[in-house]
Amino acid sequence: MKRGTLYDMQKLVVANWKMNPVSPKEANKLFSSIKAAAQKVKGVQTVVCPPFSFLAECAKEKQSVKVQLGVQDVAAEDSGAYTGQVSVPMVKAYKVKWAILGHSERRAIGETNEVVAEKVVHALRSGLSPILCIGERERNEEGEYYNFIRAELEAVFDRLKRKEVAGLTIAYEPIWAIGKSANEACSTAQLFEMVLFVRKLLIERFGRKIADEVRILYGGSVKPDNAAELMREGGVDGLLVGGASLDAKAFGEVLQAVSGI
Ligand code: PGA
Repeated sequence: MKRGTLYDMQKLVVANWKMNPVSPKEANKLFSSIKAAAQKVKGVQTVVCPPFSFLAECAKEKQSVKVQLGVQDVAAEDSGAYTGQVSVPMVKAYKVKWAILGHSERRAIGETNEVVAEKVVHALRSGLSPILCIGERERNEEGEYYNFIRAELEAVFDRLKRKEVAGLTIAYEPIWAIGKSANEACSTAQLFEMVLFVRKLLIERFGRKIADEVRILYGGSVKPDNAAELMREGGVDGLLVGGASLDAKAFGEVLQAVSGI
């Protein structure tokens, strides 16, 4: 994969349903509507991440290269005495290809950088594509949040072999911009600066060729209204969508906006 023009890279849009919807029937309906919308758009790969309990329901629908299933977390062990956890082999049984890891809502309930790194390494080595979420709680004038982001990334980089890094997708999701309206999302200037910072860290550590393979996504109040601008001016390779992914129409519009870039 060669970076340089956006066309070199397949754009990626990830739906994070979080703890929604409430019934298998609704999950099935939402997944089929999203799938129908996703099949129609050109140049965009869509990944839908339902709660574990609806994987079987969603897996009834045939997946394609364009629409794939992901999970919102996965354990760092394959089996054993880990109450409440779900492992990679368990989710792979439903043809899951992706795993969101280190989402801020999981870090908020105790996942440390080390735990997240462990999960990323395990997922990657077991054939799942990890989407590593990073993002600061708040910003300050001194730019301290850059150190925070660096620490989140280095915990993972330290554990990966050079060639493994290319399999990583990084989602920048500033916590202060999650779950808001479109105009409270990260500004495109703020986003572009952060994307450059992450790309620079990757280049310094792994070289240009590997760094170019890593997709960087943005997440945090992505809506049909701001999707195109975030992609075009933010310098990202795709989007991670929470709230708007629960509405098939809105999500379809996000996909259209990304496709039109
Ligand atoms: P949001 O969620 O789109 O509702 O802000 C994004 C996320 O938390 O992944």
